[in-house]
Amino acid sequence: MLSDVLLVSAPGKVILHGEHAVVHGKVALAVALNLRTFLQLQPHSSGKVSLNLPNIGIKRAWDVARLQLLDMSFLEQGDPTSPILEKLEKLKEVADFPEDCTDHERLAVLAFLYLYLCICRKQRWRAEDLELINKWAFQGEKVIHGNPSGVDNAVSTWGGALRYQQGKISSLKRPPALKILLINTKVPRSTKALVLNVRNRLLKFPKIVAPLLTSINAISLECERVLEEMATAVPAPEHYLALEELIDMNQHHLNALGVGHTSLDQLCQVTMAHGLHSKLTGAGGGGCGITLLRPDLTGPEVEAVKQALTGCGFDCWETSIGAPGVSVHTAASLDAPVWQALDGLCAGQWASSS
Ligand code: PMV
Repeated sequence: MLSDVLLVSAPGKVILHGEHAVVHGKVALAVALNLRTFLQLQPHSSGKVSLNLPNIGIKRAWDVARLQLLDMSFLEQGDPTSPILEKLEKLKEVADFPEDCTDHERLAVLAFLYLYLCICRKQRWRAEDLELINKWAFQGEKVIHGNPSGVDNAVSTWGGALRYQQGKISSLKRPPALKILLINTKVPRSTKALVLNVRNRLLKFPKIVAPLLTSINAISLECERVLEEMATAVPAPEHYLALEELIDMNQHHLNALGVGHTSLDQLCQVTMAHGLHSKLTGAGGGGCGITLLRPDLTGPEVEAVKQALTGCGFDCWETSIGAPGVSVHTAASLDAPVWQALDGLCAGQWASSS
């Protein structure tokens, strides 16, 4: 039982290299960003469990007494268990969706209800707890994406920079705090559908697509080598040149896999006009891209490229890689201005009934 407000956060992430290839057993390099999602858990006496996700316009509440009356025996507690279709169908009845609810709102609510109803709420933050958080986050990913590789939940749990391959995770020792732009094209896409399209293309043209995946694997490994070299020696212009070439090559491979989009082409062209190199990150088909910011760039140069991107209708954040993983922030350690800033930042606030 929670006795106080609990504020936790986890970093956003980008995949540097290896998206899609990771689903087929290849290496991916993923990094946590200094852009965080905050989650506030707050006990209250309304007799309701309420979910407030302001960034995606979701505000729902369920009567706790009603939830307790429902037969939830189909949901085991304790170890993370897969959200199989049958369980999700039953949860849809519990969720009681309004008719005008969009698919992505339904999935977000289902992921919340599934985790809320299954998890034994305990505050423990040891290595095994992080394992548990990671496993639960993976189940949430499954609700939304179907058959995820597991790289996204891993990097948001442990933070830093991770090499991920078939469930095996290793952390890069001291990743350089590279500056990047994270750009949202705002073109909606379904990760599930894009992953399926790549699988179909691999089945249709195995001799063409398998070498593309092997080459993306080699790009991830080379990027890891360069990042480690940058951590041990003074980062030199050659390192940034190599990172830029790897970005360009991977972007072309991802286009060949069929996960590009005209909005992403535009993003790459606009940044290239400013001498900067970009690639899509994640599933592609729209969604987000990243741009490497070399250390020699001046403030006005960065501002100019950001303005050009927002001029295309994209959202743009300047951030750095290698942020800490899931963290708990005690209410007492935050002063009033921080709380005010958080009010504006909170991507999700769950108020849970005690
Ligand atoms: O679109 P995102 O940010 O969820 O990333 C998807 C990454 C893929 O490699 C395409 C799929 C996966 O599960 O790894």
